[in-house]
Amino acid sequence: MTFSYEKLAEWDLRHYWHAFTQMADYRPFIIERAEGVWLIDLEGNRYFDGVSSLWCNLLGHQHPAINRAILEQLQRVAHVTSLGMSNPAPILLARRLAELTPDPLQHVFYASDGACAVEVALKMAFQYWRQCDAPEPQRDLFLAVGNAYHGDTIGGVSVGGVARFHSMFDPLLFRVVRGPCPDAYRLPPGVQSATEATAAYLAAYRELFARYGHRLAAVIIEPLIQGAAGMVMHPPGFLAGLAELCREYGVLLIADEIAVGMGRTGRLWACQWENVVPDFLVIGKGISGGYLPLSAVVTSDRIFQAFLGPYAASRSFFHGHTFGGNPLACAAALATFDELHQGHWIDHVQHMEVVLREELQSLRDYPVVGDVRCKGLIAAVELVADRDRKHGFPWEEARGRQVCDAALQRGVWLRPLGNVIVVMPPLVATAEHCQLIVEAIRFGLQSVDWS
Ligand SMILES: Cc1ncc(COP(=O)(O)O)c(C=O)c1O
Repeated sequence: MTFSYEKLAEWDLRHYWHAFTQMADYRPFIIERAEGVWLIDLEGNRYFDGVSSLWCNLLGHQHPAINRAILEQLQRVAHVTSLGMSNPAPILLARRLAELTPDPLQHVFYASDGACAVEVALKMAFQYWRQCDAPEPQRDLFLAVGNAYHGDTIGGVSVGGVARFHSMFDPLLFRVVRGPCPDAYRLPPGVQSATEATAAYLAAYRELFARYGHRLAAVIIEPLIQGAAGMVMHPPGFLAGLAELCREYGVLLIADEIAVGMGRTGRLWACQWENVVPDFLVIGKGISGGYLPLSAVVTSDRIFQAFLGPYAASRSFFHGHTFGGNPLACAAALATFDELHQGHWIDHVQHMEVVLREELQSLRDYPVVGDVRCKGLIAAVELVADRDRKHGFPWEEARGRQVCDAALQRGVWLRPLGNVIVVMPPLVATAEHCQLIVEAIRFGLQSVDWS
């Protein structure tokens, strides 16, 4: 049964409450199908998927191998619970993740969305200290990074720090120790270079560890790039330095690679850039190729062992999500890993990073462009009202949105974060696609009245 655009738009406005959207000024934008990197609306207009359908599509839409894997799984069974029961797809995926993550990571706990996987990692870390061989129940705090984003559940919001999203919920949140946001663009006072910035940020974290180290259950970080903060990039060496502090103080490390994992940065895992092996690697979004809700926490045998014991000892991990490890999603993930491996897509990302960065540099000619940054196929163009002081436009002016609205007229769909135009195409994007994106942003920059 098909319905007219008008009918669907009417029902969209009346009944569908969209995520992170001010419904009072939402205009229906209805994508009916997609092919590769193209989103196609009800009227047949095509838009380049410039943010990978919110950072999750990896190898394009309607990928034949992923479609086939889902269909084949569907003909066997759509869902099998993970509560005391198993299925070949999540088993094989767990084995694959154990192979593809650095040693000693080898045990996989599934959830459905990223935020739920963050909850899993936080609760596992907390419980670990209460039932490991030498329990340390005083470890009841988490350390998080300024401006972090770890999802919208209460645990995720507690460790998160994007004031605009989170301050409303302050009374509901648990206490977190928070360090500065290790921003490589807005450097700490008196600091001139990225190397100095790394040292300055790490000195601040060292002070926090000296004060709270014995109380910390875990540190949680988005490695290298803080997505929702506005694709804030860390100065090199920060992650490795933080991991070193964790080791020194015996604190567990949670790497939230929900946005930066799965090859986006040009390595399968962002932590690999700084040879860091976390205690918990949290994966979501692109793990299923961006096709179906799936997330996972991969951890070590040291953690896993602390949860074993006789039934009556009650050491199980009392946590689970109905659709965690869903076979359809796991089948999509297995096909995604096969394709990543066979297609050398991660090498392709490293090559495309060079192309995209070069294309984006040309936008620096616009005085409102304060910064252009890029790592793998994650990039950002940051708009500023004052370039020297790096002051952004007031968020109420929605400048980023104005640029992206104009870019849509050039056939590129982008979703900004405040003053930051996020560019995060699927890994299969070509040089021509990178040019198309940058031309659309240029058109957007030219179209907006900056006065
Ligand atoms: C770093 C990070 N963590 C967690 C999440 C939450 O994931 P989800 O939206 O799947 O719950 C996101 C989502 O953007 C993210 O970027």
